[in-house]
Amino acid sequence: MTQGERVQQKPVIDRLVVVGLGLIGGSFAKGLRGLGLCNEVVGYDPNPESRRLAVELGVVDRCAETLEEACRGANVIQLAAPILAMERLLEQLSQLELGDAVLTDVGSAKGNLVRCATRVFGAMPARFVPGHPIAGSERSGVTAADGTLFQRHKVILTPVAGTDTQALALVNRLWTALGADVEHMDVAHHDEVLAATSHLPHLLAFGLVDSLAKRHENLEIFRYAAGGFRDFTRIAGSDPVMWHDIFLANREAVLATLDDFRSDLDALRTAVDEGDGHTLLGVFTRARAAREHFSKILARRAYVDVMHSNDLIFLANPGGSLTGQLRVPGDKSISHRSIMLGSLAEGTTEVEGFLEGEDALATIQAFRDMGVVIEGPNQGRVTVHGVGLHGLQAPPGPIYLGNSGTSMRLLAGLLAAQPFDSTLSGDASLTKRPMNRVANPLREMGAVIETAAEGRPPMTIRGGQKLTGMHYDMPMASAQVKSCLLLAGLYAEGKTSVTEPAPTRDHTERMLQGFGYPVQVQGSTAAVESGHKLSAAHIEVPADISSAAFFMVAASIAEGSDVTLEHVGINPTRTGVIDILRLMGADIELFNQREVGGEPVADIRVRAAQLKGIEIPEALVPLAIDEFPVLFIAAACAEGRTVLRGAEELRVKESDRIQVMADGLQTLGVKAEPTPDGIVIEGGPMGGGEVWAHGDHRIAMSFSVAALRATAPIRIHDCANVATSFPNFLALAERAGMRVAVEEAS
Ligand code: S3P
Repeated sequence: MTQGERVQQKPVIDRLVVVGLGLIGGSFAKGLRGLGLCNEVVGYDPNPESRRLAVELGVVDRCAETLEEACRGANVIQLAAPILAMERLLEQLSQLELGDAVLTDVGSAKGNLVRCATRVFGAMPARFVPGHPIAGSERSGVTAADGTLFQRHKVILTPVAGTDTQALALVNRLWTALGADVEHMDVAHHDEVLAATSHLPHLLAFGLVDSLAKRHENLEIFRYAAGGFRDFTRIAGSDPVMWHDIFLANREAVLATLDDFRSDLDALRTAVDEGDGHTLLGVFTRARAAREHFSKILARRAYVDVMHSNDLIFLANPGGSLTGQLRVPGDKSISHRSIMLGSLAEGTTEVEGFLEGEDALATIQAFRDMGVVIEGPNQGRVTVHGVGLHGLQAPPGPIYLGNSGTSMRLLAGLLAAQPFDSTLSGDASLTKRPMNRVANPLREMGAVIETAAEGRPPMTIRGGQKLTGMHYDMPMASAQVKSCLLLAGLYAEGKTSVTEPAPTRDHTERMLQGFGYPVQVQGSTAAVESGHKLSAAHIEVPADISSAAFFMVAASIAEGSDVTLEHVGINPTRTGVIDILRLMGADIELFNQREVGGEPVADIRVRAAQLKGIEIPEALVPLAIDEFPVLFIAAACAEGRTVLRGAEELRVKESDRIQVMADGLQTLGVKAEPTPDGIVIEGGPMGGGEVWAHGDHRIAMSFSVAALRATAPIRIHDCANVATSFPNFLALAERAGMRVAVEEAS
């Protein structure tokens, strides 16, 4: 159903009464009437003209002349009167016989309403469900009523302890039918949230515009007003009477948020007064980043994605071949570490080639939350004003890490040793991933960490613990676990050493050394001792071999292809994908090999070749751990059987990559049998079909590559997370010759 399209539904209530026929009340009445959810919609408004118009415009079926007449026989009464008129209205209602009618309202402050209703009725009526739709329009009055006003807007219901659950469910149902995204919140929390996000900004806008206008009597300020001031005047153009009501009604919460803001404003004043540019830069970069971060990551995840059931669909059309020179974005692992170590260093670290994907941005945001001033990213350039090993500050709230397991696991090690408490949370996929693999060894070192059931996020890490170094034999080959413990080891008493069962990426060890921190590496053991410091460095992030891998496989399987991938990181702990593809017969040539900032890089030329199935050597598994989804596509296009063993770790990545890939491949007609620790794939022809990425970026991109050899289009669901590691994937894929695009909503 497209927006605005209305489908008649079966009535769920007999009579709806809407008291107050302004924009909000009128829109509620009109929307539900249009849907046919009530047998009758009755309106009441003290203004006879509004009543007349409401009937004429089809907002209601009929209007009553008095409140009493309106409410007779009502099943639901929606109170959409101005906030300060509510007390009087509730008094009148308390005198009426309302039967078992459900009462609800739309006011933007809830504490005041609940207190009022409690006083007037003697107790908060069980069938009164306070509500607040966060929607509006520049227009007002019944003539502006719009049945689609609440579509894709939040409506917050604030039930109290005794609220009748059936009444709550009914009100919820009505709003949901109008297309709203309904949430439940407690009254005080609602008022605090709204005071901060809506009321305070309005107070500031009214106050600032008035203050400036008063001072500049010739109104010069308006004549020369640039964008900033103009934006404030837009908000100050809101309805003065309504806002006067809101501030009087939500007094306590507004005062609390205003006091916090005043102290922050004083701090800014002091910074200006003292010429403290560092503080100013910190505030401004954090504010700018907050806008981007919240609009891009949180808003999409918390709002738009919910409304769209999280489904960004890629439509990958069959055929095509790849040519040209391509540079894929910066390495994700190195980008994360550049922010972490840059923040802990003394001095200013400059980073180039930084991956501007959501995962790495989440790490930047985490350190900004902990008081580090970070400029950028701007075309891959980031400037990190390091605070030293002991300079992090307590974050103001939980640190949200989106989809990024690397951020969460590495940060856990670092935070275990800080003097403050912290909580790490993430999106639905990250919330399913195992964290005991880091929490348990950290606890052995003296950390105090709580997790949700079965060691899942969120993780709460208690500050002020003394850590003691230890030796740890890692049960699984994980660079994240190794890095986590080494970072904790920077603070632990004595020596911390980690032995890995198989080689894993060593970016942490290399970068620590690049920052002048001594690391001892002997065979499969890496160790650090506390007591040293990190000194700022210049970091050039190579292109990510894990992103390049999609094009390596794509060029290998698509006839006539010849691509060169530039400046790709070829750290030997990451090149398993090249070794495996070469064993399968791929034509891959490395040239222009050089070392950049402690990491080897090369240009990689890949030409199409007939691949053959192989038994993948187990020793290569950790060295290609992120590349298996696309290697499975290579296997599906190869001649013969490919067998993977010893890769159970794939089951706990952003998705269960063994199962999800097997399901998708089977849908495309490929014989793919999952095993507990791997998969067996028979190469052969591949058809099209619908596959699901399960929010896993690498699955989405792998099936995009598969289309090169499919005989029909592949529709890939749930692709939004491609932005976590490869934000310009579609553009680059198109430039190279692939035929993948976002499917337009129908
Ligand atoms: C990473 C390590 C690997 C890898 C992940 C990034 C890192 O995870 O899969 O994408 O940056 O340290 P594990 O340590 O869980 O194998």
